[in-house]
Amino acid sequence: MTTEKKKLKFPSGFLWGTATSAHQVEGNNTNSDWWFWEQKNKGKILNVAEEKFKNKKFEPSGKCCDHYNLYKKDFDLIEKMHNNAHRLSIEWARIEPKKGEWDLDELQHYKNVLQDLKKRNIKVMLTLQHFSLPNWFANLGGWTNFKSPKYFKKYVEFVVKNLGELVDFWITINEPEIYVSMSYLQSYWSPQEKNIKKAGKVYFNMVRAHRKAYKIIHKILDKGNKKAKVGISANVMSFAAYKKHRLIELLFVYLADKLINHSFFDFTKKHHDFLGVNYYFRVRLKKEKGTLKPVVEEIKENERELSDMGWMIYPHGIFDVLMDFKDFNLPIYITENGIATTDDTKRCKFLIDHLTEIHHAIQTGVDVRGYFHWSLLDNFEWDKSFGPKFGLVDVNFKTLERKPKPSFEVYKNICSSNGLS
Ligand code: BGC
Repeated sequence: MTTEKKKLKFPSGFLWGTATSAHQVEGNNTNSDWWFWEQKNKGKILNVAEEKFKNKKFEPSGKCCDHYNLYKKDFDLIEKMHNNAHRLSIEWARIEPKKGEWDLDELQHYKNVLQDLKKRNIKVMLTLQHFSLPNWFANLGGWTNFKSPKYFKKYVEFVVKNLGELVDFWITINEPEIYVSMSYLQSYWSPQEKNIKKAGKVYFNMVRAHRKAYKIIHKILDKGNKKAKVGISANVMSFAAYKKHRLIELLFVYLADKLINHSFFDFTKKHHDFLGVNYYFRVRLKKEKGTLKPVVEEIKENERELSDMGWMIYPHGIFDVLMDFKDFNLPIYITENGIATTDDTKRCKFLIDHLTEIHHAIQTGVDVRGYFHWSLLDNFEWDKSFGPKFGLVDVNFKTLERKPKPSFEVYKNICSSNGLS
């Protein structure tokens, strides 16, 4: 028996990349609802669930990482890391700053960005809507408006007609279920509502919007055997029962899986060419004492390994989730996976442990075709402002200097050798 550890090889052609979203890195996204909301909250104490960031002041995104101007520098970094793919988003508020008015300069900007990736031989996964919305759209009620899918379709049509040739994979909407929960159930994000009726409307309008977008993208781009690849990115969690012998807690897990992990896919069946999966953590569900209600197990930092977001680090969960999604019989891309931490050694371990589990899932027959680490840069983390550090690259938000962290080197080795040892 040899003690030497085996190298874990990934299938040839596996996509290695990082993921970002426009509002979180570009800066000066002034026509969006997030920009507007941030100005309102400037200097206020953060209204967040995460302990580590409570009592901190909210800082608006401002010029952020200035990726809008520095994108070439950032793409140099991904090239250096031997990435062969990149996930990024395009900002609807820039392309259509007023209803029905297209900004051709902004369109040209994104054309330049995507062409730059193509020149480097990097496959492009483009998200059309990643949480932020144009202000005009938000003022019309956002996704609560029955006409919202129609507005979205027009924007998608414009983008696909103009940029279609430069994109390999389309993500129509990022994490619809998280958006509904954060904006319309838990009241953390704009428009900060707690209204189940509106949440339902938003959800089903997003379902309709995805279906419309799926159809129009295929209609414009499909030619002969050449077919567009369209999907969404869903946030999937690894749910577990607090105690395995409690039937009710097993039932909670079943329902959470169905409602949170599966339902968007179920409502949009036949409108996915691949499954986009964002995986971050595990949640254990417990029956509340004296009621039949589920509650999430509270975990303390000294009891378990948590990220700075308070999320339970659980690499095996990605294996469980992938096995579960195998039943959809579609190729799977991990469109996000990462950790908020100021301890980069923890990030290196996170990366290796999760990729080991993904490799195991592939060995078991799951058709995983790519991995996009969240994120390339430390960036603007929504309601938690600049607190959480998700990047493989550190950004000094004053000087805009980029400094690759040790995890950058680790990921570089993985990508260049298409495997890990
Ligand atoms: C979102 C990202 C976010 C990340 C970390 C995902 O849910 O798509 O925008 O930054 O999680 O919280």
